[in-house]
Amino acid sequence: MLYEIANGHQKGRTVGYSNGSFSNGVSNGTATSNGYSNGHEEHPVVDLRSDTISKPTQAMRDAMYLAPVGDDVYGEDPTVNLLIQKACELLGKEDGILVPSGTMANLIAIMVHCRERGSELICGDNSHTFKFEQGGPAQIAGVQQALVKNLDDGTFCLEEMKSKIRVDPDCHEPTTSLIIVENTHNICGGKVLPLSWLDELTSISKSYKIPVHMDGARIMNAAVALNVPVNRIVKDIDTVCFCLSKGLGAPIGSLLLGSTQFIQRATRVRKALGGGMRQSGIIAAAGLVALDSMIGRLKIDHDRTLKIARAISDFQSDLFKVDLKSVQTNILMVYLDAKRVTVSEFLKRLYEVKDADEVKVHLRATTLNSNSARFVLYWEITEKDVDLAIGKLKLVVKEFEDKLKM
Ligand SMILES: Cc1ncc(COP(=O)(O)O)c(C=O)c1O
Repeated sequence: MLYEIANGHQKGRTVGYSNGSFSNGVSNGTATSNGYSNGHEEHPVVDLRSDTISKPTQAMRDAMYLAPVGDDVYGEDPTVNLLIQKACELLGKEDGILVPSGTMANLIAIMVHCRERGSELICGDNSHTFKFEQGGPAQIAGVQQALVKNLDDGTFCLEEMKSKIRVDPDCHEPTTSLIIVENTHNICGGKVLPLSWLDELTSISKSYKIPVHMDGARIMNAAVALNVPVNRIVKDIDTVCFCLSKGLGAPIGSLLLGSTQFIQRATRVRKALGGGMRQSGIIAAAGLVALDSMIGRLKIDHDRTLKIARAISDFQSDLFKVDLKSVQTNILMVYLDAKRVTVSEFLKRLYEVKDADEVKVHLRATTLNSNSARFVLYWEITEKDVDLAIGKLKLVVKEFEDKLKM
């Protein structure tokens, strides 16, 4: 509910027209072309609700137009096959499938790993799979989730994890069939899981013979932040999915990768869920551009995110705080004193433009809980957008502080 409201999901749908003409939002990188716009804003919109808002680049659109295609359910789409081959090389996995969304990728992974009825998986209590996938593991897969408390850095205590593993479960207990980790961690503010923690986790999971799935929706951001090849991150992880449609800018699609046997099973599950797509080379073509040309530029998003964070920190506000050390990728959490100002008031004012405002911009952000606002950057957010956002934040923060002093 909070997610919905704070995301400002509009009632009704935005149609394809923006400013009276079809906006492809690709070339100018100006805020008004961002997806939120209803076409009626008088001032620029800087939409930092999510990197899912990013639109395909012109190169992606060109590639999609020209993509050779076939029927991917028959395994005959050459562009999908090429994308999978490249992704497998990049991540060091045997095989993969293209699916419509990260949610479906995670669900398929869960259904394959937890095939035995009465299965349980272990994941963080702030993980996307637990919080934001509509209880899919229970609703659709019949799998119970055992939660371990997420720490601020996106990890969890491995001793606590161990205590949740059912060793030789008797007939009263479910069987532990899977451990899920999330990298980067969304609710924890785009945090990158430390490699040493992952190494320790996988050595424990191996000793219990329990597979590990990584919800790597933003794993490329993690690799860029760590400055390591992405295959290093997943070297001991059994299965991984990542989104083409977030910071990488593609319009649709996630890839799920793992062993050949895992992918054979995953392909069956995908069909059952209605995720078998036909000429999906059209989507894969954008994915290929994403892998070739969008990973290298993610650092720009990270730097711009940090620039906003530093500016907020420089305001030295009592009400709105950032933890500079924790800004690692393209997600920025601004923590607010929820007793004195609500997130919805803050978000509303960021969007609102008043006549007297010195900086006139509609700034969009979102929240995942009651004491923080989330800002996410992506390729269309330019340096100019960042400066506008900082200007607006400065104005709004000061306004709230002045109001509370009265
Ligand atoms: C960490 C994480 N996992 C999975 C997903 C789900 O991806 P999708 O929206 O493509 O279903 C998201 C979406 O924001 C996410 O942040």
